[in-house]
Amino acid sequence: MAETYDLSAFMRELDVIVDEEKQNFRAIVNRGKPLLGRLLAEKKWLAARYYEPRQGGSVQYLLNKSSVGKYTITSVVFWQGYCTPVHNHNTWGLIGIWRGEEQEERFKRADDGTRADHVQLRPAGTQINTPGSICHLIPPDEEIHRICTVSPEPSCSIHVYGGDIFAKARQQYDLETGAVKEFQVKAVVLD
Ligand SMILES: [Fe+2]
Repeated sequence: MAETYDLSAFMRELDVIVDEEKQNFRAIVNRGKPLLGRLLAEKKWLAARYYEPRQGGSVQYLLNKSSVGKYTITSVVFWQGYCTPVHNHNTWGLIGIWRGEEQEERFKRADDGTRADHVQLRPAGTQINTPGSICHLIPPDEEIHRICTVSPEPSCSIHVYGGDIFAKARQQYDLETGAVKEFQVKAVVLD
């Protein structure tokens, strides 16, 4: 019988990659992507309470309490039709779809980055992410996006970020005015 892959097995392998690659974000996401793919292919490890939606909105559940300083793993659940603001991450990331479908619009900075309170963004592609598909985030050019759930039911995706994503100051962008707003994410920690 084939060995079952689960979150613990994924984290053991990710630990090695993060230790070896350090600040080489592209190497981390390249090596981490097939591991997340393997995790998404297994349906038993994620309990249903970790993809319980919040009506009309979004919720994210912390999946790795013990190693958040090194990386952060969450399940993110969006109600059908929900859209995030345009935002950045300030770290590497992998996002894999667990259920439902998400439209992801990417953006790049078109300004010189010298103003903290204003940006110019240009579209950098749109894709529909379906169960099992994985996208990555690498600052500064591959980390600004907006996600909308386009399936008729809520979507759930597994997010893996470098470092403690909850401690990072991140930015949201107003596409029309170019205004920048700082924000921090919060996750639900289940027992
Ligand atoms: Fe994001």
